[in-house]
Amino acid sequence: MNFQEYLEARRADIETALASVLPPSPDCPPVVGDAMRYSLTAGGKRLRPVLCLASADAVGGDRALAMPAACALELIHTYSLIHDDLPAMDNDTMRRGRPTLHVVAGEGMAILAGDGLLTEAFALMARAPASPDPSIQGRKLRVIGIIATAAGATGMVGGQALDLVGAAGADDLRSMHGKKTGALIRAAATAGAVMGGADDATLALIDAAATDFGLAFQIVDDILDVEGEPAAIGKTAGKDAAAGKPTYPAVYGLDGARRLAGECLERAEAHLREARLGDSHVMAIGRWIVTRSH
Ligand code: IPE
Ligand code: IPE
Ligand code: MG
Ligand code: MG
Ligand code: MG
Repeated sequence: MNFQEYLEARRADIETALASVLPPSPDCPPVVGDAMRYSLTAGGKRLRPVLCLASADAVGGDRALAMPAACALELIHTYSLIHDDLPAMDNDTMRRGRPTLHVVAGEGMAILAGDGLLTEAFALMARAPASPDPSIQGRKLRVIGIIATAAGATGMVGGQALDLVGAAGADDLRSMHGKKTGALIRAAATAGAVMGGADDATLALIDAAATDFGLAFQIVDDILDVEGEPAAIGKTAGKDAAAGKPTYPAVYGLDGARRLAGECLERAEAHLREARLGDSHVMAIGRWIVTRSH
């Protein structure tokens, strides 16, 4: 199966799984359940869950065991987008080709929908996979810890905080990008590898590669804010420069930013080759991250 076919197949699996994660429930007030589904079902590349599943596959694991973590990552990512778009943060009105949630449901409901998605992510990982096998339960607990750390104040929340106060120099920029975006991408790859039963050496190499994927992803996001087509990226372009945000293109220029993203990919490839995963779909995801147009 070539990468494009693999990507489409995994995305279809993920859409099916996500639809079953947030069904309308008599216990959940529709006003917040509908808001959560509005953002979750708006599309999106599903990069994090695909990376999680591909990582489980690459280490020879059972992909189905990684699906709850894959869905949880997408719930957390979607919550981060809802909150990122709020007037108190980036104040964006378009996301995934739709008006942002706070525009259609109000700021309060957008905050609560984000809270609901984040919390449901952990409820989901606590209940699934429900295997009686203690070794699977051990992997699951480890993955819950990995994802919590990546999403929290030492990871994504911390990076968003640095973004909010304005990173200063080039080193800060790298650290901010590594946290606000890199941490969850890194967790996606490692969570999949852990659920797939990777040995420690392979896990460390996948982690190293995904650290570079994460940085490359945000560098390209910054580039697309400059030269992306709003219809393709599904969000307003030119916002970073208008807000005076420190970004890779602002600090290194567009060519410099492209070169640095390419260097991330080369480093990641070296790690994956060392793990004998140079021909895996994980590596193909890295190339997609750097060459994408949305
Ligand atoms: C956008 O993430 C926010 C960043 C972390 C840069 P994506 O570009 O993955 O957004 P979707 O999920 O495809 O909408
Ligand atoms: C957001 O970074 C990172 C998150 C954790 C959501 P950006 O603010 O650059 O993401 P976009 O460009 O709005 O998608
Ligand atoms: Mg932001
Ligand atoms: Mg933003
Ligand atoms: Mg951006």
